[in-house]
Amino acid sequence: MGTLNSEFEALKRLESEFSTDLSHCDDLKALETIRIKYLGKKGAINQYFKRLAEMPVESRAEWGRELNRLKNSFQQELSAKSSALKKQQQRREFVDVSLPGYHSYVGKRHPLTQILDDIKFIFTSMGFTIEEGPEIETDYHNFEALNLPPDHPAREMHDTFYLPGGFLLRTHTSPVQIRVMEKRQPPIRMIAPGRCFRRDTPDASHSPFFHQVEGLCVDENVSFTDLKGVISAFAKKLFGPGVQIRFRPSYFPFTEPSAEYDFSCIFCEGKGCRLCKGTGWLEISGAGMVDPEVFKSVGYDAEKYSGYAFGMGVERLAMLKYQIDDIRLFYENDIRFLDQF
Ligand code: DAH
Repeated sequence: MGTLNSEFEALKRLESEFSTDLSHCDDLKALETIRIKYLGKKGAINQYFKRLAEMPVESRAEWGRELNRLKNSFQQELSAKSSALKKQQQRREFVDVSLPGYHSYVGKRHPLTQILDDIKFIFTSMGFTIEEGPEIETDYHNFEALNLPPDHPAREMHDTFYLPGGFLLRTHTSPVQIRVMEKRQPPIRMIAPGRCFRRDTPDASHSPFFHQVEGLCVDENVSFTDLKGVISAFAKKLFGPGVQIRFRPSYFPFTEPSAEYDFSCIFCEGKGCRLCKGTGWLEISGAGMVDPEVFKSVGYDAEKYSGYAFGMGVERLAMLKYQIDDIRLFYENDIRFLDQF
């Protein structure tokens, strides 16, 4: 046994070694190893107790007190550490299965984009090209070249947003016909999807902007029968093989003859319901044979070529397909609405 002082020094070192061990310990198993190392039967504290007998009599009481103090302090610290570790473990293991799960939203295509993609697919598979034109148009392309001179009464139906310098926001996609024919010679088979604008007050069926798809086919010997065949094939592809089409005489300045075309009601299959207002038919849009005046404005020989043109409202088709009764829902970006498609 060394000097008494150095024995007490050794206890101090033991105490700081214990603190270090404890601070590095982060699980209960390691904590038990520490307990055995210091407080076990053959642990450090007991080793020191065993040496009590070797102590000078006058120092034994102090030595004993010091050892007991250490023992108690180790015990306390071990049990505090043990309960802290247990709590930590519980927190890690605790899973509340009644909590709502994390929902990750998967992006989807907007319903208008979905139906536009369907329309594009159907027409491109019939050999049509996809064309684009500007949303800011000239009065000439939007009206005049389509046989709507400045004083033409049909202009009034269009409620146009006019811009300075003879420009306007296109009121339909028909001007894309003109732009394509100005650039290219027949044969032409194209569709032009795009956004249009009219000064309409928004309500369930009106919006100041909306989408149309224009169709145009020009070649030698193109007839009204071809138009009917293409519209019929389109209707069946979009809404199913049972859909019938019908044409009613109408008037558009850029077609002659002109028609409006309807699809048999996809909800009641033509029997008559609330959506088709009891008629069994759903109005889609207009169509007709390209007016020779239009060919004249793009320099085509109206004796040699003939063609058909048609329009369609994308929102109208999407509202029918998805049974949506308010056009404004398309533009509000309400995730609860969009999530359904
Ligand atoms: N442009 C017309 C509209 O916005 C729709 C239309 C009708 C387009 C007849 C055509 C057509 O190509 O032949 O109401």
